[in-house]
Amino acid sequence: MTTASVANPFAAGWDLHDVLARMRRESPVVEVTLPTGATAWLVTRYDDAQRALSDPRFSKAVMPAGGVNYRALVPESVERALNRHMLATDPPDHTRLRRLVAGPFAPRRVAAMRPWIEQIAERLLDGVSGAVEVDLLDAYAAPLPIQVICELLGIPVEDQTTFRGWVNAILAGPMNVAEWPPAVMALLDYIRGLLVAKRQDPGDDLLSALITARDEGDRLTDDELTSMVYLLLIAGHETTTNLIANGMLLLLSEPARWERVVAEPELLPGVVEECLRYEGPVQTATFRTTLEPVELGGHLIPAGATVLVSLSSANRDADRFPDPDRLVLDRPATPNLAFGHGIHYCLGAPLARLEGQVAFAALARRFPGMRLAVPLDQLSWRPSVLIRGLAALPVTLNGTRQP
Ligand code: HEM
Repeated sequence: MTTASVANPFAAGWDLHDVLARMRRESPVVEVTLPTGATAWLVTRYDDAQRALSDPRFSKAVMPAGGVNYRALVPESVERALNRHMLATDPPDHTRLRRLVAGPFAPRRVAAMRPWIEQIAERLLDGVSGAVEVDLLDAYAAPLPIQVICELLGIPVEDQTTFRGWVNAILAGPMNVAEWPPAVMALLDYIRGLLVAKRQDPGDDLLSALITARDEGDRLTDDELTSMVYLLLIAGHETTTNLIANGMLLLLSEPARWERVVAEPELLPGVVEECLRYEGPVQTATFRTTLEPVELGGHLIPAGATVLVSLSSANRDADRFPDPDRLVLDRPATPNLAFGHGIHYCLGAPLARLEGQVAFAALARRFPGMRLAVPLDQLSWRPSVLIRGLAALPVTLNGTRQP
């Protein structure tokens, strides 16, 4: 099937899952046109997606040729300072870079963060508890993960107002080519300033540890250090924000669901998994480039092609998940692809899961009577190739504070 006959799933809004279901049926590996005008192969079935994410012939280090390469819109020195991170490298560089930061993100270390993540959640909810209606995305889902990642990295939390706009513009990526270069350049300047300040005044935080790794062991180059901070800042918040916001949309869109979560908070680990599967925050994995011609799902993808794996689609594949379009709060556990697969599987998955569980639990406890403040058709999805996220999530708190 050719590009022309395929609907663009990246601006499909509420129709996303219908568009993807049709692609899985009719054209599971197909060339599509991206908003930049460049083409990419989109993979929509679970088995093909899993293969593409774990096959070393799909490279993260090799830049795609042609117009999809919006990184070429910034000077080469900027490009280098931002894209020498683990998600833009193949082994052995990938292995070395990932190992350097794996410690703080390991499940045991993350589990110990629960009390201070709970404190952040409680503080944010204290801030809105007098209101009747709030935008849950803006007041809670966004600031919670930002505060967590800022604290982990050792970044002043008040800086979030400065960099959140840049991060949003960067993640809009190829949907927003005009705003991308100034946003990445501003974020790089900010990161460089941060590193200068941390060198002068180091703390017990990840940023200081990374600087030491750079300065003492020569295990990180300058570009790798700025790229690492760039990746952690970006990967660590917009994604989890949308886990919380998309999840709350799903839970509130049928009041009986929310009532069940309020009554049975022990369901929450499974609820988070099901929300990740059903409306995961990362719609499409990041670009990969084929190092040689690769046969996938009966199609021959040529060498040097850009490949996008639709995680949103793979997670609704009926060959993997029975009754995939139904949200089942206690669905029997079956691993899904919301955090990717293979060597680039999300480093922050244990942290994101914990943040999701803590975020939902605090809301259920404090605001059991919460409801959506507007009908579903008044909510809109932000167009994006990578991210699945709402523009806003107005809710009425409508609950009395629990003791
Ligand atoms: C619900 C929230 C999150 C989701 C759905 C998510 C999803 C993903 C996905 C799909 C990938 C793989 C992308 C690819 O293969 O192209 C990834 C990689 C990554 N994520 Fe997350 N992520 C989340 C939260 C976080 C958090 C909180 C952090 C912590 C800072 C984080 C850090 C990373 C890093 C460093 C990578 C690159 C790993 C590598 O290349 O080896 N993520 N994430």
